Amino acid sequence: MSTLTKMALGVMGQLRPRPAKGAAASTIKLPAPDKRAGMPLMEALAKRRSSREFARKPLPLPVLSNLLWAAFGVNRRDGGRTAPSAINSQEIDVYVALPTGAYLYDAQQHALRLVAASDLRRVTGYQDFVDEAPLDLVYVADHRRMRMVPVGQRESYASAAAGSISQNVYLFAASGGLATVIRAWIDRSAIADALGLSHDQQVLLSQTVGYPGK
Ligand SMILES: Cc1cc2nc3c(=O)[nH]c(=O)nc-3n(C[C@H](O)[C@H](O)[C@H](O)COP(=O)(O)O)c2cc1C
Repeated sequence: MSTLTKMALGVMGQLRPRPAKGAAASTIKLPAPDKRAGMPLMEALAKRRSSREFARKPLPLPVLSNLLWAAFGVNRRDGGRTAPSAINSQEIDVYVALPTGAYLYDAQQHALRLVAASDLRRVTGYQDFVDEAPLDLVYVADHRRMRMVPVGQRESYASAAAGSISQNVYLFAASGGLATVIRAWIDRSAIADALGLSHDQQVLLSQTVGYPGK
């Protein structure tokens, strides 16, 4: 769908998901992440960049597993994560829009939990490539987990936490030959509707990931 069409639908509150491609499993247990994968950090930093051309090829489950663990997985016995958060609030939820459905990443169980059995990808942003790239992530702040953070700081702290997750994804993508771009040009209310979010949950950013196009 073109950007102009999406903007027109967005103004009318009509930017909606497509039917899912295939049956959506209610839970997807991810394989254990391979923590020895990837290139040296400095090489990944040298390759980090935003890309906006994606092949339609799906991401294999082991790649999705590694990607989500790199993004915001549990990396310590005490439940610590791969990205920081203010007062360890861990307020960011990572939603995973796949052709088969939209899932919430359950970092403790390293699994995906179905939240909507529809293809939400086109709702995750105004740019056309988000519709067909194999994966769009959505970063959502849950303000219920930020009660210890002063009210006036919650949005900026959550945005910083989401930015850290996004950079983890950038470095994972650079290291694994994937393309990615973080996006703020999104219809937050359309995404919140499609994901069935509550008033305590705030859509911050989206990020597309896939194999490079062309
Ligand atoms: C907060 C933020 C929002 C962004 N929003 C978008 C966006 O909506 N669409 C997009 O194509 N790129 C977006 N970008 C990516 C920037 O355009 C990109 O990082 C910048 O052009 C520098 O390019 P580089 O990432 O390749 O270094 C965003 C980046 C940030 C940090």
